[in-house]
Amino acid sequence: MPDRVRIFDTTLRDGEQSPGINLSAKEKVEIGTQLAHLGVDIIEAGFPVNSPAEFDAVEAVAQSVKGPTIAALARMVPGDIDTAWGSIKDAQKTRIHTFIATSPIHLEKKLRMTPDEVMAAAIAGVTRAASYTPDVEFSAEDATRSDPDFLVKIYSAAIKAGATTCNVPDTVGYGLPYEYAELFRYLIAEVEGAGDVVWSTHTHDDLGVAVANALAGVRAGARQVEGAINGIGERAGNCSIEEVVMAIHTRGSSLGVSTGIDTKQIVRTSRLISMLTGYPVQPNKAIVGANAFAHEAGIHAHGVLMERTTYEIMDATSVGWESNRIVLGKHSGRHAFAKTLADLGYELTGESLDRAWARFRDLVDRKVSLTDADLVALVTDEISKVEDVYTLDSIQVAGGTHLSPTATVRVRHSGQVVEEAALGDGMVDAACSAIRRAVGLDARLISFNVGAVTGGTDALGEVSIGIQYEGNFHTGRAVATDIVEGSARAYLNAINRAISKSPVQKVQAP
Ligand code: KIV
Ligand code: ZN
Repeated sequence: MPDRVRIFDTTLRDGEQSPGINLSAKEKVEIGTQLAHLGVDIIEAGFPVNSPAEFDAVEAVAQSVKGPTIAALARMVPGDIDTAWGSIKDAQKTRIHTFIATSPIHLEKKLRMTPDEVMAAAIAGVTRAASYTPDVEFSAEDATRSDPDFLVKIYSAAIKAGATTCNVPDTVGYGLPYEYAELFRYLIAEVEGAGDVVWSTHTHDDLGVAVANALAGVRAGARQVEGAINGIGERAGNCSIEEVVMAIHTRGSSLGVSTGIDTKQIVRTSRLISMLTGYPVQPNKAIVGANAFAHEAGIHAHGVLMERTTYEIMDATSVGWESNRIVLGKHSGRHAFAKTLADLGYELTGESLDRAWARFRDLVDRKVSLTDADLVALVTDEISKVEDVYTLDSIQVAGGTHLSPTATVRVRHSGQVVEEAALGDGMVDAACSAIRRAVGLDARLISFNVGAVTGGTDALGEVSIGIQYEGNFHTGRAVATDIVEGSARAYLNAINRAISKSPVQKVQAP
C-alpha cells in the first residue's frame, strides 16, 4: 500500500488572502461542502481573529461541512487561539493551526523578538491550543529562510508541547526543490519526536516552483501537502492542490504515495472557486485550464485520435471534464430543473429555487439548451448574491463601426428607479459609465474578464470584474447570454458586494 498523503486545503484562508477576494459565510460553506465532496482531509476555513465576519464564516463552515477536519489559523497569542477554538468547536473534527515566524529577518524587523522569546511564545501557544483539541499544527513561518538548527529546536519544543503536525512553510516562495527536500530530511532526522508527527509542506509560487517544492517535500518524507485550488493566494499564489493531486495520481508509483481525493470532482471544484472568487483560470493552466486537454497541432490531434495516450498522460474525464452534457431545455419543467440541480449537488428551496427557476426560464428562452456547466454557473450566481442594494432593471446599448457606443440603464434602488445614459470607449465601458452615474458612486473599473461557460456561439458568457471602491479592491461576477448585459450585472454585483462589506481588517497576514 502506498503511503497516504493528507491534503490540507487552505483555499478559504491563504487562498482568500488574494487581493479582492472576500468570501461571505454562505460562499465559504458552499466551497467547503464542495471541498468535502472532493475528499480533502483538512479544510483551513479562515483566520477567525481577523474580523467578526471571518469568525462567523469559519463557524458556519465548522457547523455545516461534514467529513474533513476543520482548521482555524491562530498566531501564538492567547486571544487568537481562544478565538480559533471558539470558531471551530462545533466541527466533527477540529484542528488549531498555530504559527510564528522563525527567520532572522522576521524576528528582527517584524516581530522584534529574540529567538528565546519566539521559542517561549511557540511553547505557550501550542500548549494552549492542545488544551482545546488534540489535533494541533505548528508552523514555523518563513522556515526556508530560517536557521535549520533553530528550526530543529523549535519543532522539537512544539512537539513536546503537543503539536501533532509540523508544517514547514516556504512563506515567500524562495526555496528550490532540492533545498526544500534537504530541509525536510534534516528536520525529520534531527527533530526530537519527528517520527510521531505528520510533516507538512506549505509552498508559495513566487518562483513558479510551489508544486515542485511540495512534491520534493513528499519525496523527502512529508505526508501532508497544503495548497489552494487553482493555486490562488496572495502574490503569485499557493501550491495548486489539483496539480499536486494529479501528479501523485498519475505518478504515484514513482512517488510511492497516494491521496484520498475523488479526482472527478476537480474541475467542478475549480469552476466553483473561480466563479465565487472572481479569479478566472488561465486557459493553459494544468489540469483545470480550458486548453489543458485540447490538441491544436495536427500531428498531436491525429495521434490522439489513433490512440489517446500518444499525447495525453491523463484522461480528461478522470478530472471531471465532461460537463458539456446537455441536460435541460425549453421544455423542461420546474420539477426536472430542481431534480437536475439536486443530482449536481445543489438543494435549492424556497425563494432561491424561485429565483433560479426564473433565471433558467429566461435563459432557455434565449439559449435553447443548457449543459450542466451552465446550470452550475447559474446556481453559483444565486449563491454569490449579496443583499442587492442596486438591481438592474434594464439596459439598452447602441454602437457599431460608425456610431459612438452609448448605453442607457435603469437601476432600481430602495423602490426608486434611476435612468441614466452615457457614452463610452466601447459598449461595456458605456454600460459601466451609465451605471456609475445611476448609483452615484465612484467605483473604478480595475479588471475585466470574459469567459464562455461552455463552447458554441450561444454559450453563456461569464464576466468577472474588479473595482476599486474607497481604496479597496472588490470583485463581482455574472453570467448571461449577452456579454454587455453580463458586464453590467457583474459591475453592479461588484458595487453591491463593495457596499455590503465593511472592509476586512487583515491582521498581519502571513
Ligand atoms: O505562508 C505561510 O507561512 C503561511 C503560514 C501561516 C502557514 O501561510
Ligand atoms: Zn502561506
